[in-house]
Amino acid sequence: MSSAGDGVSSAGDGVSSAGDGVSSAGHLLEVKTLGAGYGIVEVLFGVDLVVDPGEVVVVLGANGAGKTTTLRAISGMIAATGQVKFLGESVLGRRPDQLAKRGIAHVPQGRGTVTALTVEENLRIGAYVRSDDQIESDIQQWFEAFPRLGERKDQLAGSMSGGEQQMLAIARALMSRPKLLLLDEPSLGLAPLVTHEVFDRLREISASTGTAVLLVEQNANLALEFAARAYVLEAGRIVLSGNSADLQGDAAIQKAYLGV
Ligand SMILES: Nc1ncnc2c1ncn2[C@@H]1O[C@H](COP(=O)(O)OP(=O)(O)O)[C@@H](O)[C@H]1O
Ligand SMILES: [Mg+2]
Repeated sequence: MSSAGDGVSSAGDGVSSAGDGVSSAGHLLEVKTLGAGYGIVEVLFGVDLVVDPGEVVVVLGANGAGKTTTLRAISGMIAATGQVKFLGESVLGRRPDQLAKRGIAHVPQGRGTVTALTVEENLRIGAYVRSDDQIESDIQQWFEAFPRLGERKDQLAGSMSGGEQQMLAIARALMSRPKLLLLDEPSLGLAPLVTHEVFDRLREISASTGTAVLLVEQNANLALEFAARAYVLEAGRIVLSGNSADLQGDAAIQKAYLGV
């Protein structure tokens, strides 16, 4: 986890504008001029972002800015243009299951659990890309990390609370042992306290497993506390980026996104 002041920004005000010099060496994920949409409707107009190994990064944006579309384009769920490099290799046009095998797990908006299956069955499904013999021990590991999942392992996912389902969706994604976890608005529909708990747990897991996280969120306050670095997406374009601490202290950001 990096502290304030050592991020991508070198500008005097601590917040850099989009697209300025980030070295291309060693990024886990490198997205350049990403374009995507639905039919004739264009939604993304050249999104640039990077995530380094083990890093926790957030893309902030209002409803309709294109956050979900960005994650869908990265994980191969919709057609896209531009460049998506993962582990130095171009992966644009790959199917979601191929990307999952390579190490990208996507927790979609609105949870991503199979509600008619039990907690444990959901975790097993999350391991579908694996063929090693450590699946059972991983399930036990996530039951320990998320005790409420362990207590409810035979309960149907659909009968769990919103917060528990979000934890299950995350644990299920982690069962693929991803290098990069894509998270679409985990705070949606959760009480602030529960969201805090989800983010706290995520931070611990990311730190202990080295899993990088790319989170998209409307909830700027919580997300900036959680992530080390942030991008701001407006109408399909990245308009700002910088260290979370710098963005939190930026007057324009506070006014536009933090309700101050
Ligand atoms: N399946 C779809 N078909 C057509 N338009 C869509 C679809 N999904 C999203 N959109 C449109 O794309 C834009 C961006 O949506 P989205 O990426 O979901 O934004 P966000 O996640 O930031 O709220 C919105 O204008 C939305 O109406
Ligand atoms: Mg969305």
